[in-house]
Amino acid sequence: MYKIAVLISGGGTNLQSIIDKVKAGYLDCKIEIVISDNEKAYGIERAKENDIYAVALSKKQYGDKLSDEILKISQERNVDLIVTAGFLSIIKGDLLKKFKNRIINIHPSLIPSFCGKGMYGLNVHEAAIEYGVKISGCTVHFVDEGTDTGPIIIQKSVPVFAEDTAEELQKRVLEKEHEALPEAIKLIETGKVKVHERKVIIENN
Ligand code: GRF
Repeated sequence: MYKIAVLISGGGTNLQSIIDKVKAGYLDCKIEIVISDNEKAYGIERAKENDIYAVALSKKQYGDKLSDEILKISQERNVDLIVTAGFLSIIKGDLLKKFKNRIINIHPSLIPSFCGKGMYGLNVHEAAIEYGVKISGCTVHFVDEGTDTGPIIIQKSVPVFAEDTAEELQKRVLEKEHEALPEAIKLIETGKVKVHERKVIIENN
């Protein structure tokens, strides 16, 4: 069974979308573990409600060793793919090496716009509205040593209206995130995704 680990820091609506798609039979994988760097994350509740093993790794306790601990757990549990979904800690070190092109992230903009350091949550949507873009959206990408810089797998766009608040845009983008992330997982679990340098090639059949 294809096993995934989902890393969260907050509400976990993207985790919920994966849970729902597994239950619906759209995804043929097992959420082996949910790892949160915030013990108060509601996403932990979502995992428990669905009998999914969840663990909180305190940033205070693990500090620089957080990525090493995630690697240890992922290897012990034979995880095939790591999904960061609203996860705010930086992935680095051996975890990146041992899981090269096996860690994916969902970001709430059309990368390379409105991404990188400090670009998370509402900040992203505030920046997009401030700039006056006419479309925004979300990006699922592989995680590399940069911030939101890995090869892009899927992007989905939404319109941005002049009168939009950041919350309204966030809600519109989140709906697309909840489609894009399970779609990306399905492509990867069925072996349809190949990475060639910066390019992600997806088999059509
Ligand atoms: C989402 O916008 C996601 O793109 C970003 O974190 C936000 C919260 O995600 N990475 P979730 O509701 O905790 O899944």
